[in-house]
Amino acid sequence: MSTSVKPIRVGVVGFGYWGPNLVRNLDRLGDAVLVAACDLSEKNLAKFTSLYPAVATTTDLTVFLADHDLDAVVVSTSAPSHHAIAKQVIAAGKHCYVEKPLTLKSSDAEELVRLADAAGVVLMVGHLMEYHSAINWIRETIASGELGDVLYLYAQRLNLGKVRAEENAFWSLAPHDVSIVLYLLGEAPDYVSASGAAYLHDGVQDTVFANLHFPSGKMANIHVSWLDPHKVRKFTIVGSKKMLVFDDMAATEKIWIYDKGVEPAEAMAYGEDLTLRFGDIRVPWIPMKEPLALEVQHFLDCCASGETPRSDGRDGLRVVRILEAVDESMAAGGAPVSTVVEV
Ligand SMILES: NC(=O)c1ccc[n+]([C@@H]2O[C@H](COP(=O)([O-])OP(=O)(O)OC[C@H]3O[C@@H](n4cnc5c(N)ncnc54)[C@H](O)[C@@H]3O)[C@@H](O)[C@H]2O)c1
Repeated sequence: MSTSVKPIRVGVVGFGYWGPNLVRNLDRLGDAVLVAACDLSEKNLAKFTSLYPAVATTTDLTVFLADHDLDAVVVSTSAPSHHAIAKQVIAAGKHCYVEKPLTLKSSDAEELVRLADAAGVVLMVGHLMEYHSAINWIRETIASGELGDVLYLYAQRLNLGKVRAEENAFWSLAPHDVSIVLYLLGEAPDYVSASGAAYLHDGVQDTVFANLHFPSGKMANIHVSWLDPHKVRKFTIVGSKKMLVFDDMAATEKIWIYDKGVEPAEAMAYGEDLTLRFGDIRVPWIPMKEPLALEVQHFLDCCASGETPRSDGRDGLRVVRILEAVDESMAAGGAPVSTVVEV
């Protein structure tokens, strides 16, 4: 629920494919007043004006930041521009939301975190899945102890296409999976080890298997590919008591909890010391809300209250460092690469 009194004066930078979704939510939430938009593309600004004729537009970021008494800025431009734009927004003293990935280099993400701290402004990154009702239900279920200790989990995000040449499959598909893994486990990995292969474009991996190792001994594997016969978006979490599968391709029954496990045998009969346990399967009903509406509302609430967002700059930095370390590990033939960040 909103805690704001005076509407937050928001401007948006970037109105391409994703920006309109953010703007639609900002426009309908009572806590925000949309006052300006900035995009390098006149064509996209014309589209914006046809939808929001009362809102000022410009192609000049400096003018945009100087002219509208903005409280907060939402950045939804392509990733290579995030660092420079966010830096200028923070330097102007505005709260800043940046779409994922926060930056392309962890050193740039670190700089943004430090600058936002020093300026006393909110820095939030668009890790949308942290606001997904099913992911939050799973997080609460893990915290309740129903699964026992989480031992390991794996994520699969596979499809045939869309093939890209400007970034590899891990940068393109895995930022959400990485943020989900960190959010669910409540822990950051200490190193990653990854293998990938570039079958379609030289040097651009289409298929990546990344192993994240956690100080607690937990393990997570993320498999992404745009060269696969199946469209799969699935998480499997293996706990010491139960196992959970989240199938994001399922229209309704997204979560399945299996009462299965391996336990010490009561009697050491036949020389066996472990028994397999097979029990019921539960498919809970989960009330769903639009994750983007929840995410945008959370940003506005944090701007109003000064609270640290769930997906704050440090969360963004951790994810960028993991994406970067996966590249480094693939280049080093799968060698372990540290993912520890200092800020
Ligand atoms: N959360 C999600 O599920 C999700 C989904 C899609 C995209 N995204 C993210 O949203 C961001 C935008 O993606 P997109 O697909 O909309 O890209 P896009 O290329 O369709 O749109 C980017 C827009 O930004 C404008 N732009 C680029 N550089 C600019 C600059 N320096 N100043 C002002 N305007 C500039 C472009 O003209 C364009 O209108 C990316 O970070 C992407 O990863 C997130």
